[in-house]
Amino acid sequence: MDDITNPVLRALIAQTLPKDVSMVFFSPAINPNSIVNRHHARDEDVPINPGEKLIYNIMSGESDLILKAMDLLLKNNPAGFNLNCGCPRGKIQTAGRNPCGVALMERPDLVAQIIREAKKVFPCIHFSVKIRIGVKRDIPKLLSFCGMVQEQGADALILHPRTGEEQFTRPVDNGLYNQVRQTLTIPLVGNGDVLDDEEALALKQRYGLNGVMIGRGALAHPCIFRAIALRLQGERTRSFLEEPMMTWDERRDFLLQYLTGLNERYGEALTLKRFRLFCEWFRRGMEFGLVLRGPLVKAKSLHEMQDAIQKFFFTNKKQILSLV
Ligand SMILES: Cc1cc2nc3c(=O)[nH]c(=O)nc-3n(C[C@H](O)[C@H](O)[C@H](O)COP(=O)(O)O)c2cc1C
Repeated sequence: MDDITNPVLRALIAQTLPKDVSMVFFSPAINPNSIVNRHHARDEDVPINPGEKLIYNIMSGESDLILKAMDLLLKNNPAGFNLNCGCPRGKIQTAGRNPCGVALMERPDLVAQIIREAKKVFPCIHFSVKIRIGVKRDIPKLLSFCGMVQEQGADALILHPRTGEEQFTRPVDNGLYNQVRQTLTIPLVGNGDVLDDEEALALKQRYGLNGVMIGRGALAHPCIFRAIALRLQGERTRSFLEEPMMTWDERRDFLLQYLTGLNERYGEALTLKRFRLFCEWFRRGMEFGLVLRGPLVKAKSLHEMQDAIQKFFFTNKKQILSLV
């Protein structure tokens, strides 16, 4: 997720997983121009942690540029590439020569060319496509788009069942997975509004999905993947309401470790900015989260930030315990 996920956060999340369990991460959206012309390539986009399975998430409608960037990025040994046909941000969609993001769903010819060429030049490299319903709701058009993605040789399709126009308003239309599933034989991954481990597994089972992608739910509950793994292994049976995905102390430790890790990698100024942005999502996953906002905005140094976190967790722990 742009400006939010980075190698430090991914490493911390991976550390929470039980032994012998791994997961696939997606990079923030990468503009291949920044890779090919070596400008504005951001540290958080490209590096892959040791042993990590990372899919590079490409945001462009220009097949020549995408192929060049793939060629350069392959030296990092990614788990694959994904073409982003879901981003609804207006400016991004029209930034290049060709449309990109969800606007690409209006140009199946371009998407077909990109998949075809990518699979021709790099036949053994995993190449998925992430879509929304479309710019607007048009189900026959969506199904025809999905069929095209499969015909051109994509290895998987990821669906976030909202339209571009809806942005994040309206609930996701999960019923569409059934229709899309019938069109496809390649793996189908569901995405959107998954906030806990029970919902993740129920969604997968209910619609016969091959996987579930979690964005905001993982920012609010970075241990959601551990909870999913434990539930799959039969070691977690109670509901997340009875047994939270992360304890209060784990939340504090996670934040402190993340802050330290960010600072080591990016320095204080960038760390404070990135950390505040992350906390805007993280705090939504916990009681009294809104109270954390003010002190984090006020903190002007790493130490002030650390103090603010310690104080918040210490002060509110008593109240949390009284709620249990
Ligand atoms: C702040 C934010 C940043 C995002 N950045 C990206 C991105 O860089 N690339 C991408 O493909 N999707 C991005 N997305 C979309 C998510 O990948 C995902 O499709 C969407 O949030 C729905 O899933 P969720 O409900 O699990 O978050 C972003 C979403 C949010 C809220």
